[in-house]
Amino acid sequence: MASGKITVPELRARKRNGPKIAVLTAYDATIARLLDAGGADVLLVGDSLGMVVQGLPNTLPVTLDEICYHGRAVARGARRAHVVGDMPFMTFQVSPERALDAAGRMMKEGAFEAVKLEGGARYAEHVRAIVGAGIPVMGHLGLLPQSVHAMGGFRVQGRDESSAQALLADARALEEAGAYAIVLEGMPSELARRITEVVSVPTIGIGAGPHCDGQVLVCYDFLGMYSEVRPKFVKRFAEIGEAIVEATHRYVAEVRSAAFPAAEHSFGGGPLRPKPLSEESYTAPPPRSAGPAYGPADEDPS
Ligand code: KIV
Repeated sequence: MASGKITVPELRARKRNGPKIAVLTAYDATIARLLDAGGADVLLVGDSLGMVVQGLPNTLPVTLDEICYHGRAVARGARRAHVVGDMPFMTFQVSPERALDAAGRMMKEGAFEAVKLEGGARYAEHVRAIVGAGIPVMGHLGLLPQSVHAMGGFRVQGRDESSAQALLADARALEEAGAYAIVLEGMPSELARRITEVVSVPTIGIGAGPHCDGQVLVCYDFLGMYSEVRPKFVKRFAEIGEAIVEATHRYVAEVRSAAFPAAEHSFGGGPLRPKPLSEESYTAPPPRSAGPAYGPADEDPS
């Protein structure tokens, strides 16, 4: 393990010692590198990628292969952050055995350090089977995007006492099954506070108020790049979407006016002088100097 990597024991200890855990989603190596450099503790390859990357109306069609593909990319960009992968819809629900099989594939093929799955007591045995194989599991309670149709939309959960009690029991069941952290999504702040108090593992909130042990946001939301759905709990920490549109306007204008590319973006040199392809140059090319594949604009490569 790379030195300085955030570990599961360290995340568990944050519940007692702080500081709060800052989680963001990531789906590719470049964004992962940037969020890691900014100090994010955990990068979650969420199945939200179905909505923000693939343009789908919900997360249900996302596949195990897709999560693994994005997981490998994020793992290459994450030097310090702990990397967690979301178990896609119907990869863990059917049985503990199927759940373990899918989680194992995610660790081997997706380069993840932990998996996350949606649901409570109903999936306690599934969590136990995965944890028993040495794979850390993050739980997820409250608004469950994979149950969007059953919930009748992306709706806040646990507003009445009986559903709040059920969520408290779910949290205890996940903790007892060995989950090392629990995402609390879309629930009243007071309920998230009660859950955070009764479980010994860190809670990570999204639309669950300020009392959780950490927070998570979808990176396209917090960067201001995704506007199809704008939930109340999202704070946009930048307006990168506007910056992208503005940069694109300038690029299009400069291509059309031929202001781009300018001399400094072009390669110099005389007229093309093709060299005969000798046997020697074909079989034993001269050693290349270590440096960028493309030299400065006025370098004559001949
Ligand atoms: O898929 C996702 O990005 C998530 C987070 C919003 C918690 O599950």
